[in-house]
Amino acid sequence: MCGIIGYTGNDNAKEIIINSLSALEYRGYDSAGMSLFTDNGISTVKTQGRVSELRKKASVHFPENTFCGIGHTRWATHGKPSETNAHPHGTDNVMIVHNGIIENYKELKKEFDDSLFYSDTDTEVIAKILDKEYEETHDPIKSIINTHKRLKGSYALGIIFSDIPGTVFALRKDSPLLIGTGENGMFIASDISAFLKHTNKYIRLEDGDTAMITKDSVRIFDTDGNEKSVKHETAQRNADEIQKGGFSHFMLKEIFEEPDVMKDTFSSITKDFLPDFSETISDDSFFADIGTIHIVACGTALHAGLMGKYFIEKLAKTPVTTETAGEFRYSEPILRANDMAIIISQSGETADSLAALRMLNEKNIRTLSVVNTQGSTIAEESEKVIYTLAGREIAVASTKAFNVQCEVLFILALKIALVKNTLTSDETKNILHSFSTVFSNSIPSILKNTAPFEKAAKILSECNNAFFIGRGYDNYLGQEASLKLKEITYIHSEAYAASELKHGTISLIEDGTPVIAIATDKKFFEKMRSNIEEVKSRGAVIISVCCEDADIIKEISDCVITLPSEPSYCHPFSAATAIQLLAYYTALEMGRDIDKPRNLAKSVTVE
Ligand code: M6R
Repeated sequence: MCGIIGYTGNDNAKEIIINSLSALEYRGYDSAGMSLFTDNGISTVKTQGRVSELRKKASVHFPENTFCGIGHTRWATHGKPSETNAHPHGTDNVMIVHNGIIENYKELKKEFDDSLFYSDTDTEVIAKILDKEYEETHDPIKSIINTHKRLKGSYALGIIFSDIPGTVFALRKDSPLLIGTGENGMFIASDISAFLKHTNKYIRLEDGDTAMITKDSVRIFDTDGNEKSVKHETAQRNADEIQKGGFSHFMLKEIFEEPDVMKDTFSSITKDFLPDFSETISDDSFFADIGTIHIVACGTALHAGLMGKYFIEKLAKTPVTTETAGEFRYSEPILRANDMAIIISQSGETADSLAALRMLNEKNIRTLSVVNTQGSTIAEESEKVIYTLAGREIAVASTKAFNVQCEVLFILALKIALVKNTLTSDETKNILHSFSTVFSNSIPSILKNTAPFEKAAKILSECNNAFFIGRGYDNYLGQEASLKLKEITYIHSEAYAASELKHGTISLIEDGTPVIAIATDKKFFEKMRSNIEEVKSRGAVIISVCCEDADIIKEISDCVITLPSEPSYCHPFSAATAIQLLAYYTALEMGRDIDKPRNLAKSVTVE
């Protein structure tokens, strides 16, 4: 999604802003631009496409002695990707960059002559209003606050006024914005990676606040214009995380990190092979008397939520609903006082998940978030947080974050089971003991031999449609597998409960249609075999992802990806790694832009 950077300081602003925009590329974008103060006032350059193109343009357009400016990577919402619609937008007096959506932009535009607008964006009108306010008040803070009061929607803004060189202003409402405080200058950014190379010290801008930064000062004002005290924070992340470390893609690197991040996460929430969440949830009463658990998330995190439903219902005998956040927030969910909600998010900034969390908080439902990004808004606003220790995930397609989300939910299910006495301590210890082999043995052994994935990828890369089938948790894994394949290969695919295909979709199976059968749960092997026979007899090519002992599946498959023999609770996790590799190698075979697939954003901060 869109990225914002602003800088003012002693160093070369042109270089810093361009490099920061490169660091924001992973978020997904379709155009980019920047405005800098020069000796002749503010100057702007924009491009459709990659930051590398902007870099070329900027190198000839701007002088070397620039010290302050703003930049943006745009992920189109209003108006197609184009140079004209790229940010910054503005007037002779003010330039802005904007993340988010202005819901009342059409209404606001009516105050101005249509001919004054050059773009199709919802952003340009903000600059027009701000310009008018500034002309009237001659006070940048007042004009920003007055503008803020007129806007509806979500927004993070970076602003420069042509008659205030060296100062960058910022405003935030429902869209993340940080202020980086470095020794050689100050930054504003939508995401810490934009300035992490220069400083890991930052200030989080709160909703409704306006910031004014110069090269050596930061001042923050509330919506009444009163100056506030600032809280400095230090990020643990380091800039090296943004390196591929010898892998051809971040996605592959991140899949290969799975054993380590699962081990780290395991150590952080277990003690002597028993669940231990005491670092964040000191009192077991948080888990007591739970009515229904509502899991809310989007995309891959939603699929982890489906796995969580499976684990919690099976182990803790507690009812679970799992719903996509964008629907949940507008539905009228039946919530009872003793219910609990679990919000899952890698970024901790997904707009729909955050809105659902806020709705649940308003209704006084106990909220627990499973989040990967320390200090993110969802983490901050949840009653309790469990951090997944996946480390930084750069590839747009989420992989290692999924595995650790599932792991946390699995261990959480064991915790609730212990509190509810549906499992004994000894049973739990045995389960966790065997589970730990998934990161010490199973996933590492899958990663050692990628040949079966490359073979299956050849089959998939030649098709336009593919179907995933599975039963139980394998059905949920199929949904994640299908999403992964669509995201990075652009092959159309659908995932079905294996029993469901014959209720309509089987009409789409023809000679050569790949059907990927995920069969890792022994109790379903025979049923899965029948379902495979049904599609095979209609011409489907079968790729199976199954356990070593699934002979009855293997013998009717055209291509087999075998998971190592392992205790049953390990299968969903090693199968998750397998389906990610399958998507990766298919995209590689097809020559796709794996880490930055078209139209997608890493963190979806608009609804
Ligand atoms: O940051 P989140 O986990 O809240 O993000 C949710 C989805 O946007 C995300 O999982 C998305 O589906 C990924 N691109 C999947 O690979």
